Amino acid sequence: MARRTPPTGLRRALLAAACTLSLTAPMAHAQAQATVDLKKAAGLFATHCSECHSVKEGKDKKGPSLFAVIGRKAGVVPGFVYSDALRQSGLVWSPAVLDRYIASPAGTVPGGKMKYDGLAEAPDRALVIAYLTSVSGPH
Ligand code: HEC
Repeated sequence: MARRTPPTGLRRALLAAACTLSLTAPMAHAQAQATVDLKKAAGLFATHCSECHSVKEGKDKKGPSLFAVIGRKAGVVPGFVYSDALRQSGLVWSPAVLDRYIASPAGTVPGGKMKYDGLAEAPDRALVIAYLTSVSGPH
């Protein structure tokens, strides 16, 4: 006589698999959220920064090239004419310093010439910095 239900062993295995899935699915979801959404990050850079900045080496626009900007001293791109304020600021573009500057360019470097009001949302700043890090290459 043919059995219509799967043998007990198989049923148990299926049940175990279903349990494992329901346990790991939320974890996988959390991990996906923790990894940076670089597409969104690139989009934010395009919206907020690319009018004035390129991440290509040697390509200055209204602002200097941001190629490999992470860890770089402020005001050192050759050939770009910076404000005295930024050149003499003594800043180094660590992620934390960048975060302050992007939040409030005028507040961080008074007398600077980056005509940008600042990106108020901290998560968006973190994404822009992640984007800049991703194009900075190894040091
Ligand atoms: C309207 C044009 C404009 C926009 C928009 C703009 N910047 Fe700038 N940025 C400048 C200019 C001009 C400077 C040079 C400032 C100075 O000399 O005081 C500058 C300087 C910088 C520097 C210092 C670079 C160095 O070599 O020391 C960083 C970092 C920077 N901008 C990041 C950003 C980021 C990130 C965004 C987007 C969130 C952005 N900027 C948006 C014009 C702009």
